[in-house]
Amino acid sequence: MNIGVVILAAGQGKRMRTRRAKVLHPVAGMPMILHVLRATAALEPTRTVIVVGYQADEVRGQINQWVTDVAEETLIFVEQAQPLGTGHAVMQAAPVLQEKVDAVVVVYGDGPLLRAETLRHLLELHTQTHPALTLATCEMADPVGYGRIRRDSAGRLQQIVEEVAATEQQKEIREINPGLYCFDAAWLWSNLAKIPLSAKGEYYLTDMAEIAVAQGKGVAILAGQNPMELLGVNSQAQLAEAEQAMRQRINLQHMGEGVTLIDPATTYIDATVQIGMDTIIYPNTYLQGRTVIGEACVIGPGTVVRDAYLGNGVTIFNSVVEESQVGEGVDIGPFSHLRPGNRIGAGVHIGNYAELKSSQVGAGTKMGHVSYLGDALVGEGVNIGAGTITCNYDGKRKNKTEIESGAFIGSDTMLVAPVKVGARARTGAGSVVTRDIPADSLAFGVPARVRDADSAEAQLPAEKKE
Ligand code: UD1
Ligand code: CA
Repeated sequence: MNIGVVILAAGQGKRMRTRRAKVLHPVAGMPMILHVLRATAALEPTRTVIVVGYQADEVRGQINQWVTDVAEETLIFVEQAQPLGTGHAVMQAAPVLQEKVDAVVVVYGDGPLLRAETLRHLLELHTQTHPALTLATCEMADPVGYGRIRRDSAGRLQQIVEEVAATEQQKEIREINPGLYCFDAAWLWSNLAKIPLSAKGEYYLTDMAEIAVAQGKGVAILAGQNPMELLGVNSQAQLAEAEQAMRQRINLQHMGEGVTLIDPATTYIDATVQIGMDTIIYPNTYLQGRTVIGEACVIGPGTVVRDAYLGNGVTIFNSVVEESQVGEGVDIGPFSHLRPGNRIGAGVHIGNYAELKSSQVGAGTKMGHVSYLGDALVGEGVNIGAGTITCNYDGKRKNKTEIESGAFIGSDTMLVAPVKVGARARTGAGSVVTRDIPADSLAFGVPARVRDADSAEAQLPAEKKE
């Protein structure tokens, strides 16, 4: 059976009270609609149609940014010029789905908690019974805002009543329509136009239930679904609810895969993050974006890691790491900041109050205290003394500093870029290096002068503190 998926995402989401299109609000770091798309992709549909309208370009653009591995003919955007209701939105998908698929699964773009498993159950029921329409229902403790499921005394479905059209008595009904449908394609296309215009001036997709019932066609119901999974986000409060539920789900999954979360309630892991086993995450930690964390790492407390790649055995304590690659066994913090563009070699020590930007640091290098490396290329086994600063910005451009392997940079050294410190060279405490220092030499003073390696001065201890 060929399956078509339609995701409705043309609405503005007025009840969110923001300018941003509702389906683009992130949940666990990923736009809501991408969660929906992930779930429907598991059905391996022949075609997925996303109906866009409000901020169509932004919605399309964002989705295309996230989905890069899908063929163009399988993911199609259609535009609903005016938001005339969910039934009208589905009509826009007809030209690209008609004659292509046997069943049409329709979901809303504002249900980020939907799981693939539930969609599979819906499809199973549909293929077993072949009704005109299969839909899911669930019992909501607070059904306000949802379409209510009206059944007759024999328990057969009669109608879905929208909140705005419901009588006080109907509003008491707790069985609601979460908005998961599987239609027989031929029946859908030949009956969509029968939806009447509502008092609100919209064509409600939910009226398809009543249309099927009136024709004596079967409607199959997948009842008793998990309400937490079928939350529709209409307001900021519901967005926060979805965020919390998604976070719990993500945390449980990582724990199931051998990650220790000391306090899941204060551990914030985006849907896009990967973590290796035996890693321990301490409280108040945010793991964001396309972050990949190796095995046996210790992260947090109080740490933010965004779009970074951490090897095995990395320790980060009360620090921020962004868009950087961090090698095996590196330790960072407390109170350090890796800004974007760093590549840190294995076993590097980055201690307190360090900042790094666009720098490459070789294996085994130590940078213990209060230092800044910007646009620096640092070799292996280098000692960066306390208070070392690369003066990489001359007011116009960013200049490079190169420090070769085995160099020993004394405390409070200013490296005025562009400048190079040769292999095993040393700088005295407080030196201001404005010119290149040859390998194996020693430089002192302001501005730093290179001393002959055999001179008496060169024998003075240039550095006391490690
Ligand atoms: C809808 C259902 C309601 C159900 C609830 C589940 C209808 C008429 N009502 O109500 O029975 O209980 O979802 O969460 O279907 N959209 C369009 N074009 C439009 C209107 C909406 O694409 O013209 C999209 C929206 O972007 C949104 C989705 O459809 O992603 C649902 O619209 P929304 O306004 O949130 O519907 P609800 O009032 O929640
Ligand atoms: Ca909704």
